[in-house]
Amino acid sequence: MEIVIEQDADAVARTVADIVEKAVRSGPTTLGLATGSTPLGSYNELIRRHREEGLSFAQARAFLLDEYVGLPAAHPESYHSVIRRDFVGQVDLDPAAVRGPNGEAADIAAEARAYDAAIGAAGGVDVQFLGIGTDGHVGFNEPMSSLASRTRVKTLTEQTRIDNARFFDDVAQVPHHVLTQGLGTISEARHLILIGLGAGKAAAIAAAVEGPLAAMCPASVLQLHPHVTVVVDEAAASGLSHADYYRYAIANKPAWQSF
Ligand code: GLP
Repeated sequence: MEIVIEQDADAVARTVADIVEKAVRSGPTTLGLATGSTPLGSYNELIRRHREEGLSFAQARAFLLDEYVGLPAAHPESYHSVIRRDFVGQVDLDPAAVRGPNGEAADIAAEARAYDAAIGAAGGVDVQFLGIGTDGHVGFNEPMSSLASRTRVKTLTEQTRIDNARFFDDVAQVPHHVLTQGLGTISEARHLILIGLGAGKAAAIAAAVEGPLAAMCPASVLQLHPHVTVVVDEAAASGLSHADYYRYAIANKPAWQSF
C-alpha cells in the first residue's frame, strides 16, 4: 500500500486523475467506477482534461461497484443514473461499455453471478476507484463481509442508510438492500485507488491502513493487495500514526517508480 497525503481535495483529485489518465492513455482500459461524493472531484478533473486536454475515454470500458436493489435504473439516485450524471455522460465513454449490477433483476442471485462473470470476461478491472464508508465499508461491503466475498446482495447498516439519506428526501427512502461487488471481486482489480476526504473518514482510513486485517473493517482487505494507492487529504489522514513515514516514502520515491 502506498499512502499519498495531499494538502486538500483538489490536490487529491489531480493525483487520482494523473493515475487514471496514464492508464487510459496507455491503451484500452477497464475502469472500476465508484459512486458517492468522494470521487466527484477526481471525475471533474478527468472531465476537465477530456474537454481541455483531449483526454479520450473512447477506448475504455467500465464496471460499477454496486447498486441499490429495487430502485429503478431511471431513479435519479440509482447508481446507474448517478454515474451517468457525474461522469460517463460528460466524457466520451460509450454508455454501452459501462455496466453496473442490475438491482431490478428478477433473479438477483443469478445477476450477481453474471456480473462477476462479465467482469472476468472483460479481462478484469485495470484501475478501480474506491471510496470508504464511515464504518470502513468499500462498495457496499458492510462490516463482517467475507474478505473473499463475490458480488452478492447485502443488507445496509442503519448508519450507512443514514449516511446516504442526504441523497433522498428522507432516510425511509434509502433501500435496505444492495447488490455489491464482493471484497474478493474488488481485490481482483489490478490497481486499487482508495480515496479519503475529510475528518469524517479519518478513523475509517486509519483502521483500513494501519488496523488489523479484519472483516470488521472491510477496507482492511486492501492490505493483502499488491497494488493499492491510498490518496487522502490532510483531514482524512489525521488518524494515521505513521503519516510522517508515508510522507517521507513519497518524497523519496524513486524516479523510475510511478503510482
Ligand atoms: C456508498 C458507496 C460507496 C462509497 C460510500 C462513501 O456507501 N456504496 O462506494 O464509498 O458511500 O460515500 P461518500 O464518498 O459520499 O462519503
